Amino acid sequence: MPERVYIEELSKHVGEEVTLSGWLYNRRSSGKIHFIQVRDGSGICQCVATINDLGAEAFAAADHLSQETSLQVTGIVREDKRAPGGYELTAKSYRVISGSVDYPITPKEHGVAFLHDQRHLWIRSSKQHAILRVRSEVEQACRDFFYDRGFTLFDAPVFTPTSCEGTTNLFEVDYFGERKAYLTQSGQLYAEAGALALGKVYCFGPTFRAEKSKTRRHLTEFWMVEPEAAYFDLDDDMRLAEDFVSYIVRRVLERRGEELKRLERDTKMLEAAASTPYPRITYDEAIEKLKAKGLEVKWGDDFGGDEETALSSEFDRPVMVHRYPSVCKAFYMKQDPARPEVALCVDVLAPEGHGEIIGGGQREDDFETLKSKILAHHLPLEPFNWYLDLRRYGSVPHAGFGMGIERCVGWITGTHHIRETIPFPRLMERLEP
Ligand code: 4AD
Ligand code: MG
Repeated sequence: MPERVYIEELSKHVGEEVTLSGWLYNRRSSGKIHFIQVRDGSGICQCVATINDLGAEAFAAADHLSQETSLQVTGIVREDKRAPGGYELTAKSYRVISGSVDYPITPKEHGVAFLHDQRHLWIRSSKQHAILRVRSEVEQACRDFFYDRGFTLFDAPVFTPTSCEGTTNLFEVDYFGERKAYLTQSGQLYAEAGALALGKVYCFGPTFRAEKSKTRRHLTEFWMVEPEAAYFDLDDDMRLAEDFVSYIVRRVLERRGEELKRLERDTKMLEAAASTPYPRITYDEAIEKLKAKGLEVKWGDDFGGDEETALSSEFDRPVMVHRYPSVCKAFYMKQDPARPEVALCVDVLAPEGHGEIIGGGQREDDFETLKSKILAHHLPLEPFNWYLDLRRYGSVPHAGFGMGIERCVGWITGTHHIRETIPFPRLMERLEP
């Protein structure tokens, strides 16, 4: 039996007889030769089949193989610079595993809504496949980065008794008919408890926001990675954020070049983001820049997509905007002692209009101040009692941030709408498939 190999490993098997196990991606024929493209999840390989190699019967049958038929092809690996991926297979035999009649997604153009209805099949297409492989690389890079720096993975709960990021976009769940629970908007409050127990932690999981906004940057369910560290201030936090993002970019450039090429991603923009430091500007400076560009903004406004795009267009790499007005930020943000009207917070804005990929900052560590902030935000005190304990018993300065995986992958892959950066997107108007 020839060895079963994956397409991405073909370079190690030149001249050998191997078996590819996959699905028919595309096919054409010159009459005398069939060119059968097989995909196996790791790549696409062109299998060249002649009547001499296959025999008359199998050769004739190959002319009827339909798209997405599952099959195994055995043949000799050849290096060919012109072939996509650089290698092809001279087929000696093939075996159909299961047929595929009238596959709904053909190489022609399809509408976006149709493709999203077919998401379970659309993920087999080469661009979607490439985006998901980059996503996997980004997630692995997040885990490796924090692991290598001594952060402990600290999983936060999904059911929570209260809100973390404001009450306007909370998903409510009926909890045994007895009380209300909410799907978490962020693991941060729990990660803070983790940081005071374990020093440096990160949580990484799905988070939920009942976003009524239908923008290209909002999902109702998205994945967030959130580091939190004790004895960290805002400057430590910004250094961690730029080290983190530049590490992710380098990892993808090093290991997912093939996928970026398939996505026709201009990697010049990414190369700048692979090195630090990233530019830092204050919110005040950002307001001046926006006014100079003719945008109608005033001090105290939060930034939306338009403002973020205008700001990031001035830089070739992510820009860190720090010290927003306290009024537009969450209750847990620490006020700048030098200027109490601004918070010790930072947003990292990705280039090319991909918007905010990171939000974070230093946390309020004083018991009385935090308590009055909770009340000022019209939040109930009772469910935050445990959180206030963190300020009752050995409070220390601490900071952290959250990065949305889909926003980050959207930027790195150059994908317009982040719904294509998650296997099964959840949006206001989409719960299927
Ligand atoms: O800025 P946000 O709301 O910050 C927090 O949740 C903090 N508690 C994080 C922390 O400090 N530990 O969200 C953080 C990031 C955003 O920068 C964005 O990348 C992403 O989460 N995000 C979304 N991604 C997709 N769809 C949405 N609706 C998102 N809302 C936030
Ligand atoms: Mg934010």
